[in-house]
Amino acid sequence: MHFGNAWYPEHWPEERWEQDVRLMHEAGMTVCRIAEFAWSSIEPTDGRYELDWIDRAIALLHKYEIATVLGTPTAAPPAWVTYYHPDTLAIESSGRPATHGNRCHASPNSPTYLKYCRRVIEHMARRFGNDPRVIGWQLDNEYNRVDYSDTAKRQFQHFLKERYVTIDKLNDHWSTAYWSQTYDFWEQIPIPVGGHNPGLMLAFRQFVTYTWQEFQRHQIEAIRNNSNSSQWITTNLMGWFDGFDTYKVAKDLDFVSWDWYIGSGHHDYTRTGLLHDLNRGFKHKNFWIMETQPGTVNWHSNNNSLYKGEARVMAFHAAAHGADALVYWQWRSALGGQEQLHGSLVGPDGNPRPFYNDACKIGSDFKLVSDALEGTTVKADVAILHSYDSRWAINGQRHNSAYDPVDYIEHCYRPLALHNVAVDVIAPSAPLDDYSLVIAASLSVLPADIAAHLAAWVYAGGVLVLTPRSGHKDEHNALHTSLQPGPLRELAGAEVEEYFALDEPVTVVPGWGELEAGEATIWAEMLRPLSATTRVAATYGPSNGWLDGKPAVTINPVGEAGGKLIMIGPWLDARLQESMVLWVLAEAGLRGVDSPPEVEIAVRQAPDGRKVTFVINHCREQRTTLLPESAAGQKDLLTGNVAAASVTLEPLGIAVLSAT
Ligand code: GLA
Repeated sequence: MHFGNAWYPEHWPEERWEQDVRLMHEAGMTVCRIAEFAWSSIEPTDGRYELDWIDRAIALLHKYEIATVLGTPTAAPPAWVTYYHPDTLAIESSGRPATHGNRCHASPNSPTYLKYCRRVIEHMARRFGNDPRVIGWQLDNEYNRVDYSDTAKRQFQHFLKERYVTIDKLNDHWSTAYWSQTYDFWEQIPIPVGGHNPGLMLAFRQFVTYTWQEFQRHQIEAIRNNSNSSQWITTNLMGWFDGFDTYKVAKDLDFVSWDWYIGSGHHDYTRTGLLHDLNRGFKHKNFWIMETQPGTVNWHSNNNSLYKGEARVMAFHAAAHGADALVYWQWRSALGGQEQLHGSLVGPDGNPRPFYNDACKIGSDFKLVSDALEGTTVKADVAILHSYDSRWAINGQRHNSAYDPVDYIEHCYRPLALHNVAVDVIAPSAPLDDYSLVIAASLSVLPADIAAHLAAWVYAGGVLVLTPRSGHKDEHNALHTSLQPGPLRELAGAEVEEYFALDEPVTVVPGWGELEAGEATIWAEMLRPLSATTRVAATYGPSNGWLDGKPAVTINPVGEAGGKLIMIGPWLDARLQESMVLWVLAEAGLRGVDSPPEVEIAVRQAPDGRKVTFVINHCREQRTTLLPESAAGQKDLLTGNVAAASVTLEPLGIAVLSAT
């Protein structure tokens, strides 16, 4: 486990640096990220590089046994770049150029910007690419800018030409005869602003993904051509941010890292666990928390503080889900910067803030578990399929504004978290052999090849759950000509006869052992069984007339290996959703681990089966929980105590159990 912070030495007189680094060391920090956003200090004028200060900062960190992560400074191009090369500025959707100085103002599509990015990174890599004190690189910062310039438009048109080859094919897939959109040649195709043709909107998102892949490729090449391979390369991602397809962008990174902020309120482990699992799923690998809040942020509606002790619970929760590092943002706020009031470890007076003590405790506790966690990760039997294409398709036409595809994924995840079931969140194209149960959460875009991939796995014995809105569209965001679930209709032994955006709740009568009827809100699909083997597992009660007595959930056995395809038509209430999830787990031969409310039990394991069990009390009251058999009798690495069959945790208490 690494533990650290983001430090901007260029904001402070050099005489102060050693005191800061000593305080970091005393907090148990082992890593520090520097140079991100420091372009004007690295290349103050065109072609004049000043890297000695970075070298001195790295040396000081090294003296205190802190490894360096170097940020490429490209999210903050200096004033001279913007002034002498206005073509580097991104154009906003309004048609106006972005304003210099709020970072991320440059266009990832601008060849001039890319040229300057590459050059500054090459200089940094030549100097530090073989430096053992630098363990890795973080590229840019939270890729997010979308450029609406003519340059970007031409690149988009070229991207479409590569994909569709002939304009007729594009017209055909996008149904452009509708509203006379038919294009005669590529140069007529616009960048969509607001709502537009579904094919155009989806393709533009995919083009933005391609833009970031290319932007990143330039940066990776600039480093790799000048460094040894022991330095890794990552970038810091933003949770559910859907500006691009992160599965694609993550491919070229060594691992992903992400920035975990709570903003207002407090952390809810049944939601944040999903975010960690999402990030672990991008590469099916452990990840870093590259930024997290030291108590508070400055950008939310109410920048309340975390509870005392909550950050420690968050840190161990992240580790339990596969984080191999936790890095606070930031060490100290620049006196006159845009983020003056953000949480930090050291105040404007240069002294530790109260949060620093929480950090020290995390630092010393991480040291106690670090060896045991080496080589371990999360092993899940359950996967949730998460598709950017589907999110873009649904968000483009929600049909019921309350249908938020991320909310729906959370709705599937929460019961699994409450029952301590490990989950991988993966792309629909990912290998499925490791899983017994796969939940396709609102998999609206279901092309034939993905359907074939899922079908092969179901024939091999997998249990696939298709939730509302699945199998509606093809890869061009056009409607399938067969009813949902489109290419999986036969395997499902059922189809969606009609879908309803709900304005009032609808009764659902389950048939999976749960006796009480419940409700559906937001969305309901009327299912129609198509085969003799299909069993109706829930029906709608009296409702809008259309749905009365109709099938709401179906299950169909597939093949000889025990495969099943389950279709869920309605957005169920929380209680019914929980009982439905327990039912589909049982159908897949799985079950969860019981624990009292707000107590999480999670396991990391090594390839040889060695397990580390995290028991985390997320609430501010004492809790006692039974332990899974594999953890009973093991040592709590934090206290040294040997656990019996159960463990009692203090408010916000943690036990980390291991045989070693
Ligand atoms: C983002 C950025 C950081 C900082 C924090 C503040 O995550 O990456 O540079 O602005 O937000 O919370």
